[in-house]
Amino acid sequence: MDLHILDHRLRVTSISKNGLVNFTHPLIKLIFLRNRTRCKFFSLTETPENYTVVLDEEGFKELRPSEHLQVESAIWLPLNVVSNGSASSSSQAVGVTKIAKSVIAPLAQQHVSVFMLSTYQTDFILVKEKDLSVVVSTLEEEFNIYKEEGGESVPVHCQDVSNGLHKNGREGTAIQPTVHPVLIPKNQFCVMSLDPDTLPSIATTLIDVLFYSSSPKEDPQPSPSQDCVKFFSFSLIDGYISLVMDTEAQRQFPADLLFTSSSGELWRMVRIGGQPLGFDECGIVAQISQPLADSDISAYYISTFSFDHALANLTVIKQLLHYLPSRKHCTKS
Ligand code: ARG
Repeated sequence: MDLHILDHRLRVTSISKNGLVNFTHPLIKLIFLRNRTRCKFFSLTETPENYTVVLDEEGFKELRPSEHLQVESAIWLPLNVVSNGSASSSSQAVGVTKIAKSVIAPLAQQHVSVFMLSTYQTDFILVKEKDLSVVVSTLEEEFNIYKEEGGESVPVHCQDVSNGLHKNGREGTAIQPTVHPVLIPKNQFCVMSLDPDTLPSIATTLIDVLFYSSSPKEDPQPSPSQDCVKFFSFSLIDGYISLVMDTEAQRQFPADLLFTSSSGELWRMVRIGGQPLGFDECGIVAQISQPLADSDISAYYISTFSFDHALANLTVIKQLLHYLPSRKHCTKS
C-alpha cells in the first residue's frame, strides 16, 4: 500500500460562536469562490462549542487575526493511504477502520499525536510537521511513502526526513491511555458529497445552515430535541466536497443534488472528551478505532478543535463501549 504525504501545510483553528460574524466574508470566499483563492484544503465544522476551520497556508492568509480566532501553533501535514489493489485490502469497511491497524495504532505507539479528518471520499490523518521523521520511520515498513510536490509524487525514505532523531525513543513505554468520557447524542447523521459545479445551487441553503442556523426562523420549526447535538461539517479538499450533517439539516437541502453511498446509511455519533482534548495527547483515535477494526466495522472519525467525533452504527457503538475501558458515558437514545 502507498502512503502519500500531501502537498498542503495546514493550520488548525477555531472561531468562537460569537465571532463568526467577523469571518463570514473570508469563509464565503473560501467556500464558494474557488477561483479567488489559492486555498486547496478547506474544512469547516460547526459544533456546539465553536467552528473548527482546518485550512492550508493560502487559505489561512484570508483569516484576519482576531480575539475570536484561536490558532493551534503547529503546522499539520495530511497523510492519505492509497490502496493499490493489493491483497491486504480484504476489508469491506469504510473510514478510519481501514487504517486503524496500519497507521493509527503504530503512530499512537510511537506517541505521535494525530488529528483525524474523515470525508466522504477518504480519510486524512494529520500529523505535526515536526513529527514527520518519526512518522516516516514508523510507517515505512508497511507502506511505500511518497511526498507530493507540485503535482509529482516523490518517494520518501527515513533518512530523507530524519534530523538525527529517528524515533521518539519512547517506544515501549506503555502509557496507560487516558479514558475520556463520551457523549452519544440522539441525532442521526449522513455523510454526503456534491458535484462542485452544483455548489452554487445549494449556496443559499448552505449559507443559511452555516451562518444563520442558530437565529430564530420566521416560521419556527418544532424546536430540536435537547438531546441532539449540533454538528455540521463541510470540506472542499483538492476539488472534492464532503458534507456531514444530521437528518434535520439534510431536510433543508434539495434532495436531488447531494449524494451518498448506495446503502444510504445513517450514522450515530460518539463525541469523545469531557474537557477539550488539546493537540498533544496521542492514542485517542487509536482507542476508538482499534475495536472497530477488530470487528471490521465502518466508522468515520472527525477531530475538531475541542473534541473528537466518531460516526458509526448505534448497535456497534453500544457494543464498542463495552470493550473500552470503563468510562462515563451518557447515551441519549
Ligand atoms: N491527538 C489525538 C490522538 O492522537 C486526536 C485529536 C484530539 N484532539 C482534538 N483537539 N480533537 O488520538
